[in-house]
Amino acid sequence: MLKSPIPGNETAMQKNRIPQFQKKILSFYRKHGRRLPFRDTRDPYSITVSEIMLQQTQVDRVVPKYRAWIRRFPNWRTLAKASPQEVLSLWSGLGYNRRAIHLRDLAKTVVSKYRGKIPDDPNLLVALPGIGPYTANAICIFAFNKDVTTIDTNIRRVLIHELGLRSNVSLKSLKTVATGVLPKGKSRDWHNALMDYAALALPETPRIKPLSKQSPFKGSIRQIRGQLVLRLMSAHSLKRKHLAAKLQTTEAKLDAALFGLIRDRLVVMRKGSISIR
Ligand code: ADE
Repeated sequence: MLKSPIPGNETAMQKNRIPQFQKKILSFYRKHGRRLPFRDTRDPYSITVSEIMLQQTQVDRVVPKYRAWIRRFPNWRTLAKASPQEVLSLWSGLGYNRRAIHLRDLAKTVVSKYRGKIPDDPNLLVALPGIGPYTANAICIFAFNKDVTTIDTNIRRVLIHELGLRSNVSLKSLKTVATGVLPKGKSRDWHNALMDYAALALPETPRIKPLSKQSPFKGSIRQIRGQLVLRLMSAHSLKRKHLAAKLQTTEAKLDAALFGLIRDRLVVMRKGSISIR
């Protein structure tokens, strides 16, 4: 029989932690969110410019460059007509100059292929110059408020820190968690909120260890922990009884995983029922 190591854990459990987590992050954003020029607009062009600038550059360095860029090239058509020299001169100081050339190529494609309107579908966006999967989703989120997710280092830090995930959690698991906790219809605010929570409320340490330094993951207690967290995200509660078989593990490993999650205050067990706290 597994006993909770936390006194008081036996008290009535809460059914669904997701709305509470959403409220915590969104309330933080309402109180402390950063005012940034690219958050005052819904214009897909301006947002695309900001996302490409933000790819490898800090927010503080992007803001003045973003303002100057939008003044000189206010839309896709003006940018499509710009010379490479002018584009590069406005980009100077941001680094990774290829991004500026890609951005102008993107403007040419949006004008010629999409009549000056960038598509709002991540699958079409990734085929365009300079746009990878992260930026495709970020454009859909910040310009179109689409219910898709994107995970940068900051969003990863929040999910790991706030949901008690392992520091080497796979991107696949993170995507499942990110989709599970996304408040539908609020994708724009939610992603801004996650980024600000990481930047303003989370400590920089502990550093996340590289994968190669971790012990083998497959079949490990940590893997079972991850599977349990994810199952618990979608089910309100799970019966302990048939879990070992479901997770294709032994009773001993299941108990070790459960014990760890309870000790980490992520999970509670009461009368054989397990749920996220
Ligand atoms: N990095 C990428 N997109 C961002 C945004 N909208 N706000 C802050 N940082 C970001």
